[in-house]
Amino acid sequence: MTARKLFVTTALPYANGNFHIGHIMEYIQADTWVRAQRMQGNAVNFVGADDAHGAPIMIAAEKAGKTPQQFVADIAAGRKQYLDGFHIAFDNWSNTDSPENHELSRQIYLDLKKAGFIETRTIEQFFDPEKNMFLPDRFIKGECPRCHAKDQYGDNCEVCSSVYAPTDLIAPYSALSGARPVLKTSEHFFFKLSDPRAVEFLTEWTQDGQHVQPEVAAKIKEWFGTRTNPDGSTSTGLDDWDISRDAPYFGIEIPDAPGKYFYVWLDAPVGYLASLKNLLNQRGEDYDAYMADPQLEQYHFIGKDIITFHTLFWPAMLKFSGRKTPTKICVHGFLTVNNGEKMSKSRGTGLDPLKYLALNMNPEWLRYYLGAKLNGRNEDIDFTAEDFMLRVNSDLIGKYVNIASRAAGFIAKRFGGKLGPVSADGQELLAALRGSQGAIVAAYEARDTARAARETMLLCDRVNAYVDANKPWELAKQEGMEARLHDVCTTCIEAFRILTIYLRPILPHVAAEVANFLIVPPEGFDDVARPLGAGHQIGEYKHLMQRVTPEQLDALFEPPAVEKPLPGGEAIAEAITIDDFAKVDLRIAKIVKCEAVEGSTKLLRLTLDAGEGQTRTVFSGIASMYQPAQLEGKLTVLVANLAPRKMKFGISEGMVLAASHADEKAHPGIYVLEPFPGAQPGMRIH
Ligand code: 2FM
Ligand code: ZN
Repeated sequence: MTARKLFVTTALPYANGNFHIGHIMEYIQADTWVRAQRMQGNAVNFVGADDAHGAPIMIAAEKAGKTPQQFVADIAAGRKQYLDGFHIAFDNWSNTDSPENHELSRQIYLDLKKAGFIETRTIEQFFDPEKNMFLPDRFIKGECPRCHAKDQYGDNCEVCSSVYAPTDLIAPYSALSGARPVLKTSEHFFFKLSDPRAVEFLTEWTQDGQHVQPEVAAKIKEWFGTRTNPDGSTSTGLDDWDISRDAPYFGIEIPDAPGKYFYVWLDAPVGYLASLKNLLNQRGEDYDAYMADPQLEQYHFIGKDIITFHTLFWPAMLKFSGRKTPTKICVHGFLTVNNGEKMSKSRGTGLDPLKYLALNMNPEWLRYYLGAKLNGRNEDIDFTAEDFMLRVNSDLIGKYVNIASRAAGFIAKRFGGKLGPVSADGQELLAALRGSQGAIVAAYEARDTARAARETMLLCDRVNAYVDANKPWELAKQEGMEARLHDVCTTCIEAFRILTIYLRPILPHVAAEVANFLIVPPEGFDDVARPLGAGHQIGEYKHLMQRVTPEQLDALFEPPAVEKPLPGGEAIAEAITIDDFAKVDLRIAKIVKCEAVEGSTKLLRLTLDAGEGQTRTVFSGIASMYQPAQLEGKLTVLVANLAPRKMKFGISEGMVLAASHADEKAHPGIYVLEPFPGAQPGMRIH
């Protein structure tokens, strides 16, 4: 069989944050696949890059007081520690602001234009008059038109989940300046996905069973059907895709359109090709010739959140610009931690990859654990501490590593480190191990590393059963059993060599150590059939892997917040982000009326003016401290967006802020907050 020629990528991460465990999982999945390909003799170029462009990065750079280029370079400098740390071996890591990407993106655009796939249209968009820029949807906020929740993003409401256009927001404001955005027209460039040629091509490409997993194809099929738009109208087919953004924008300028830039998602996937081209340039190889080879296969590993971009826009861009389309888009699900909880650092459930490495936890534990769970389908997987410990300790150490440690000592001490002949029963065992090569290689090919790991562990079980049946530690004590001891231990070492080959895509570092120990060159899958043979000298066995301890996992998941008792009697709550804080809408409110509540010794009924043109009723548990007359006419602080609560005496439309000690009995008292003079009803507290 001739070697395959493969070009493999993972999704390009935005260059405005460090890697999280989701990135690492994807890279481990792709790296494992690439290693398995190379072990079959296939030629692979495996590349990544930072996704550098777009408004969020431009804005983050500005906030950090850096140029976007410097900002991106600083993020990029932090990548290596993760990649090296988890043995993820990209052949190249570039970024989408590279000269190669500028050039390729423009070429692809011009080719699409020539083919009649680009159209310009004038659209109306929100513009921030203070910042002098058009606002991306996520930088426009306002009140949800459906449920009236405050401070929702321009495209969807996080409270009631409805989807709308930014122009539907009530009282919209710019998240950048706070200014009220104005509608302004601008000419935009569109990629005409509604063109019948695109619809025809993509229907075939996504549904022919060749390029995406079946569950992904089924999902895509829905997008081609009839759908209801936010305004109630229906559409079928595909919408044209808006691929331009106006200056100021950190991106690639569109040819012959000064002040217009490609939307980041246009040039991001081109970054795959650009990183490859950059790699080939470094090696003095010809990019065009490489891409022109009809045998070349192109694989993209991505997460389920970016399917549309990779299964519609990207193949269509390539197809209609006259380029090779991807061979496969390999979609994985999300990684959840501790039973499906969404990861949160402050709750201590997040799995911070750098903390993992800093705790000296073995990267191959994680590679094995994730590998043993990933089955090649678009499904979420869950990390739990107990499960992790069990899989690593019982599979990797208990079943696999154990085989070497049971045999190596005897070979060294009793036989001068030389292997001996293997008799019939050993040959039979080894033949069974070799017989699994096809199934295991096929599992790797299908990205079903779970099956590859499972098959290999079953083989480990057989080898361990052989060891238990032959008891080398007893043979060692028996007179005249020298040859049998040599035979049994040689069988174990040869079995261990084969098992190591099967696990090598997942455990590259262990496999390298084993190669040192066995004094063999790095081995491919076909080497399972080439035994070391009698007389082969092996090296000194060093323990290959420690067990995971519960203490390590506790430390890994320990919440970062330090809890220290304060005079207030309560530890400081876990950290929140400024965005979390911004969710709480605190307003200055005037207590226009304050009354006792009949039937309650605790509550006062407050009538508040928070500058809304109408008053609110709020019940507050402060009757023990204040006479109604004391409070009337005073200003206080209202939690204005607290959902109304039905109470025994009526509905409370918010909450006023008051201070108290955690231990109410020992330190009674509740103190209502009052702002400094000058504050006016309705002002927001930031
Ligand atoms: O979703 C993301 O993180 C994007 N930066 C992925 C881009 S993948 C490719 F198109 F570059
Ligand atoms: Zn809503």
